[in-house]
Amino acid sequence: MKRTLGTCYYPEHWPRALWSEDAARMADLGLTWVRIGEFAWSRLEPGPSELQFDWLDDAIEVLGAAGLKVVLGTPTATPPRWMLTRHPDMLAVDAGGRPRKFGSRRHYCFSHPGYLEECRRIVTLLAERYGRNPHIAAWQTDNEYGCHDTVISYSDAARQAFRGWLRDRYPMGNGGDIDALNAAWGNIFWSMDYADFDEIDLPNLTVTEPNPAHVLAFRRFSSDQVVAFNRAQTDIIRQHSDAPIGHNYMGRVTEFDHFATGADLDIATWDSYPLGFLEDRVGATPDRQRAYARQGDPDFQAFHHDLYRAVGKAGRWWVMEQQPGPVNWAPYNPAPLPGMVRLWTWEAFAHGAEAVCYFRWRQAPFAQEQLHAGMLRPDSVPAQAFHEAAEVMAELSGAPEVTPHQAPVALIFDYAAEWMWQIQPQGQGLSYFDLVLDHYRALRQLGLSVDILPPATRDFSGYRLILAPGLMHVPDDLKDVLNAAQGQLLIGPRTAARDADFALPVPLPPAWPGLDVTVSRLETLRPDMPVTLDGGGAVIRWLEELEGNANVVLLAKDGAPVAMSTGRVTYMGGWGDAETLHRLLGDLCRRAGLATMNLPDGLRLRDTGAERFWFNYGAEPLEFEGISLPAAGVLRQPRPAGA
Ligand code: GAL
Repeated sequence: MKRTLGTCYYPEHWPRALWSEDAARMADLGLTWVRIGEFAWSRLEPGPSELQFDWLDDAIEVLGAAGLKVVLGTPTATPPRWMLTRHPDMLAVDAGGRPRKFGSRRHYCFSHPGYLEECRRIVTLLAERYGRNPHIAAWQTDNEYGCHDTVISYSDAARQAFRGWLRDRYPMGNGGDIDALNAAWGNIFWSMDYADFDEIDLPNLTVTEPNPAHVLAFRRFSSDQVVAFNRAQTDIIRQHSDAPIGHNYMGRVTEFDHFATGADLDIATWDSYPLGFLEDRVGATPDRQRAYARQGDPDFQAFHHDLYRAVGKAGRWWVMEQQPGPVNWAPYNPAPLPGMVRLWTWEAFAHGAEAVCYFRWRQAPFAQEQLHAGMLRPDSVPAQAFHEAAEVMAELSGAPEVTPHQAPVALIFDYAAEWMWQIQPQGQGLSYFDLVLDHYRALRQLGLSVDILPPATRDFSGYRLILAPGLMHVPDDLKDVLNAAQGQLLIGPRTAARDADFALPVPLPPAWPGLDVTVSRLETLRPDMPVTLDGGGAVIRWLEELEGNANVVLLAKDGAPVAMSTGRVTYMGGWGDAETLHRLLGDLCRRAGLATMNLPDGLRLRDTGAERFWFNYGAEPLEFEGISLPAAGVLRQPRPAGA
């Protein structure tokens, strides 16, 4: 597959006289893709039923005539102001019961039936008009579902829809089986029993914590609402167009199940802002934030590349928005080191991206993102990303295609597990996402390429090592498949710790077939009370007391078993720090016959079908076992035999 580049363009922001010049410059640079339209509703429909599509017809024609392929976005993330006059209750409501007002974007509740109808209407108009347009080569639904905390809404519309959702989930006779719900949730506790589904409210504004089963049901419902909203659009587009459909996901947005939306899309795309993420959502220590301020976290982008490869159908994924220079929205907004835009682009290709598009073509001199860089400055002079994209273009034309390759290691990521950890963290600062990311980092530091897999996976053939840390609910058939797989398996902490309705199962977890380990007690640890292990490393944050006759793999200094195994299954009863995960995973790799390395901080690699890519996220040149890389350097080598 040919790797391609693109950009995000807003013709409605610029005088028409600029369009053809812009299109010609994009084409000259070698760009293939231009995404447009995703925020343009107020110009497509300036007033109720007042349609103005001519300008979009022209823009598509101008871009297409220059040889560019257009990705057309549906504008449903930015309903125009008049929409609120028509549907005053369409806004999402926050946990404090306050509506989230007009004046930025994503101001809608996924459950509002009137707004959903409006979305169907505008998407139908677009799909009918452009579905067969030869320049429309792909579609994008909405923009960044869930960004700015927009999945969860405590609106009246959500309450109504939640009740209906519960009736379907606890069926029996007419109107659902309320006794089944009461039993599954344990509502006898604190006399929370309901006599009717219509008595059930949303789990906000309760006096103290709501029932975790209630919250989990609401989180599953909220995720399903996103899936249904997205599907309403894909169903319409597919009636009029054969072009592939994608959605641009975000970094560390976990409030909806991306695998479920992905099932209705052809391509997963995501928006990669490495420097913004480092400041905003990686959770790095101040020292690491300083060390990587101009490069981004060495594992965070790669993690999402691997995650979205799993979300995309048949592994199809893109970067739809690549950070081009300083952004405007993080606590601090440094400029990337020279070479980083190129490195980020090649890293995406090494992880299998079909396309990388830079956000945005030209920096806007007005409104919220005035200080967000583009490929061009506001005066149209090329900026960093323009030059580095030109470098990548030159390299792409002289280089062999990047070929896909199954990684030797599989890491399961489950959105519902993230919700379950959030609902009952049992201690401050405990997050499933961080736990999985820590395992991912440790694997990468060992020089391994990783495939992230959804929890619905039922075929693990070819994987020599499989990890399912923190996977709170494990359906029985997944346990069976994991047990039957060939590779080494690492589970825990908290794997199989709850049933599907958030009850603690008896026999006690993990109750894993063939593994004689029981979690008899658990505790969470203050940041200043790590539990040190025999042989180095420590358990931090989360510690379980393990009973049973399985072999002890890791032991605390006080003699308590921390990790135990039987055959190819290992249970880890705590949150290992970096040294512990390195030891434990290194040991499992040895058992699995996988060669490992000990990569210096900042150096990362990724194997493809024929090549090994090296990336130096460090701010200094680096030497490692005969490899020399400048700061922000990228190196391609043939893949070593046996890797
Ligand atoms: C993304 C968004 C873009 C733009 C960008 C700025 O999250 O999709 O529209 O706002 O951030 O970094």
